[in-house]
Amino acid sequence: MTRDTNEIELIKEELVKRTSPTLTIYDIDANAELVHDILALKKKHNVLMLGHNYMEPLVFGLSDENEKGDSLGLSMSASKTDSEYIIFNGVPFMAETAKILNMSKRVFVADKSAGCSLADEFTPEDVLRLKELNPGVPVMTYINTYADVKAECDVCCTSANAQDIAMRMPGDSIIFVPDIYFAQNLKEELGDKKKIIYPNGNGDGVKGAICEVHEMFTLEDIRLVRDSFGIEKENPDGMIYVHWECKPEVLREADFFGSTTQIRKDIAQRVSEGSLKKAFIASECELTSNLMQEFPTVEFWTACYVRCQHMAKVTLKGIHDVLVAIDSGSDLSEYEILIDEEVARRANRSINKMMELSV
Ligand code: 13P
Ligand code: SF4
Repeated sequence: MTRDTNEIELIKEELVKRTSPTLTIYDIDANAELVHDILALKKKHNVLMLGHNYMEPLVFGLSDENEKGDSLGLSMSASKTDSEYIIFNGVPFMAETAKILNMSKRVFVADKSAGCSLADEFTPEDVLRLKELNPGVPVMTYINTYADVKAECDVCCTSANAQDIAMRMPGDSIIFVPDIYFAQNLKEELGDKKKIIYPNGNGDGVKGAICEVHEMFTLEDIRLVRDSFGIEKENPDGMIYVHWECKPEVLREADFFGSTTQIRKDIAQRVSEGSLKKAFIASECELTSNLMQEFPTVEFWTACYVRCQHMAKVTLKGIHDVLVAIDSGSDLSEYEILIDEEVARRANRSINKMMELSV
């Protein structure tokens, strides 16, 4: 690709302007050409580049503002696009959702081998077993599952809308799969309003799954952060944010829990009111890196040993490889998300049901 020196300098200036505490001048010098080439090819092929909040800052910055977000926001963006090509900077179950919503479009991920401990550990047979044991009870699947699981369920949800969707489904019970901690948290939040049935909740022999990243946070960690960082309960100066996928005792100890975008929005609100001074986020560490850049007045504590190894597989080089393959008309099968038409049609019903109940 031909590169104008001025253009590279402009990209560097842009990156420096972001004043991201986790981006050094060395990262910028080493990656400016790659960022330039990716942005040029993205524009040339009118690619929608969706970026999950867990992407490292240089990757996250490739997406426009309305292309960044949590699982719910990205599914919404995917459902509205005119672009023929979608590159999903996230893990394959997320890209599958974009594909199901756009079967005529071509959807790619930089590394199809990236998994997710929730999606990888749960099968359509597990759903069928739970249905057999609980006849007539609707099944709600967390979006962190593959299309074949969604195809067996009645409705989908994300961490941004699980409570609302559960309450809007008919009946006094709902089966929630596959995340056991999430199910327990939902059960606690909904109390008597809805009975939550979940894998292995009553010795049904269905294993269920846990997020290998969020399970790392313990109650002791959260208390330690409170003590050593001086974040007091009920004091709006400091906040401990946790994701729904954490253990119930961790949620109970937090000041706020929600999806990645809900956490971001709460921070934005508090910053605009001038109250938030420090924050700790019990979630994937690059979420904090991106928030540090967006909210420089807040002092964040990070836990950068808590990195999702699957999300980390999405790199600038991998994204560039996808775009070069698109540009040269090469075989794209290494990157392309393909789903059987019938499975996609059935999975689409549960995603559409979520969209319908989300409004
Ligand atoms: P969000 O929908 O909150 O972005 O979460 C997705 C995820 O995989 C969390 O680990
Ligand atoms: Fe899956 Fe957990 Fe990684 Fe999210 S953070 S993609 S739930 S393994």
